[in-house]
Amino acid sequence: MERFWWKEAVIYQIYWRSFQDSNGDGVGDLKGILSRLDYLEKLGVTVIWLNPCYPSPQVDNGYDISDYCGIAPEFGTMEEFDTLLSELHARGMKLVMDLVVNHTSDQHPWFVQSRSSKDNPYRDYYIWRKGKDGAPPNNWGSHFTPSAWEYDEATDEYYLHLFAKEQPDLNWENPKVRREVHKIMRFWLDKGIDGFRMDVINLVKKPEGLPDSKLPPSTKEGFSFDNELYANNPGLVEFFREMKEEVLSRYDVMTVGETARVTPEYALQYVGEPERLLSMVFHFQIVDLRDNFTWGKFKALQRKWTNALWGKGWASQFLQNHDQPRCVSVYGDDGKYREKSAKMLATLLHTLPGTPYVYQGEELGMCNTPFTDISQYNDINAKFDYDEMLAKGKSPEQALAVLNRYSRDHSRTPMQWDESANAGFTTGKPWLMVNPKYTEINAARQMQDENSVWNYYRALLALRKEHPVMVYGEWTEYEPEREDVYVYTRTLDDERWLVAVNLTGTPTQVTLPGAVNGTLKRVLGNEADLSLKDGVLTLRPWEAVIAAF
Ligand code: NOJ
Ligand code: CA
Repeated sequence: MERFWWKEAVIYQIYWRSFQDSNGDGVGDLKGILSRLDYLEKLGVTVIWLNPCYPSPQVDNGYDISDYCGIAPEFGTMEEFDTLLSELHARGMKLVMDLVVNHTSDQHPWFVQSRSSKDNPYRDYYIWRKGKDGAPPNNWGSHFTPSAWEYDEATDEYYLHLFAKEQPDLNWENPKVRREVHKIMRFWLDKGIDGFRMDVINLVKKPEGLPDSKLPPSTKEGFSFDNELYANNPGLVEFFREMKEEVLSRYDVMTVGETARVTPEYALQYVGEPERLLSMVFHFQIVDLRDNFTWGKFKALQRKWTNALWGKGWASQFLQNHDQPRCVSVYGDDGKYREKSAKMLATLLHTLPGTPYVYQGEELGMCNTPFTDISQYNDINAKFDYDEMLAKGKSPEQALAVLNRYSRDHSRTPMQWDESANAGFTTGKPWLMVNPKYTEINAARQMQDENSVWNYYRALLALRKEHPVMVYGEWTEYEPEREDVYVYTRTLDDERWLVAVNLTGTPTQVTLPGAVNGTLKRVLGNEADLSLKDGVLTLRPWEAVIAAF
């Protein structure tokens, strides 16, 4: 298997609004990140992925961009950005930026031009259609609003927006649009950045003729949200191919496509060797399980993806990001066994095949925030969902209960640095409330405690640098049917590792697979020792073990 730095990397996601504020305005910024580089280096991070930090009206926290080649003033200056990039490189770390080109902000000059008249040269930069009998051109729903169409009086037409109405979709059929995208990419790559995380990149190709969705209406107004129809459309790979030829092939960079509704079959079209249009993709089949999550399904999906991709294309692993709740609250136990279950999850994240992505605060085992009122939420998505739920007859309490399970704001609360006011995030008023648990869960405390979640992540990150088996080792699963344990080996040449974890808070046992004969030598685990007797491994609640054999 071909070796690349991005396969060996551990990617740390910085949601900068919540990372570190330096000037007391309550919003994280570039200087804040610069002041925390020692922290990132100590943790052992090799690549940073920075959420969109371009000028933006911030309707969707930076995913609505009004200037692709600038820096948001609340984030800092281009000069500070250049410093960040060179400081990271000086420390041997790399930087990946968010490329958000399915849509722009409605304040972007292209859209301002586009909406001004039907014969404006920028008209075709976006997707404009006439209405049908006073109604939108089709029944598409958007992620954040009932209809994916917004009527514009000036020209008596509708424009398409798969997200908020302030995020009009670009028309990728127009070659000029694609050239603009390539230009933006080159601008950042020529500065020396190391790649892109590509926002909803498999939505850029719209289905021929924009047909109605056949799904039953998902909103009161009769619109259907149909990602199946929006994603992975024929012709998408042509756009990727062009992007590779025109831009990506000329740089040593990585790309990770954020791809909704992607199956292994689609993923292989995007990441498959030898073409390797993208380095890897994020799939959502695990996080999308939501209320239907079971460890059996988690294991089946990991099996399906690894079997399909291994040797043919590279995978990614993540348990959370800025759009998902905190992983320890979802998959672990954020009460009694918070630390143990967070370490168990970290073990899976770093030893299952693919490049691991760590979301800020995950390395502390940060958990969901007990929001008690809709006013405490910031996310446009939460507000939309709340209104929809009320419109459909749920009580405010019921709607809040749903948001409290899934809201994107759980991940977006400020980073918990120490036990001082506002968790050391800001001296001002934080833009989003701080999780009240910060006095107990914070970086300062955990860096001093050798048994902390933080030090466990640090150990995993260090192991990945020293042991290629963790990256390139063959993956073989044992006990696939069991829902209470996850057991597999990674093997490469004469390095052979067993990973065994307890997926529950109840003790259990595993008989060592035949392949694992001889003695086990503990590499890392969330208990101080191994409990092995006569070939039977006892796993304490949420125990995770990595052992060489
Ligand atoms: C996915 C991003 O991760 C999310 O935060 C954003 O709202 C949508 N794409 C729209 O850009
Ligand atoms: Ca600030």
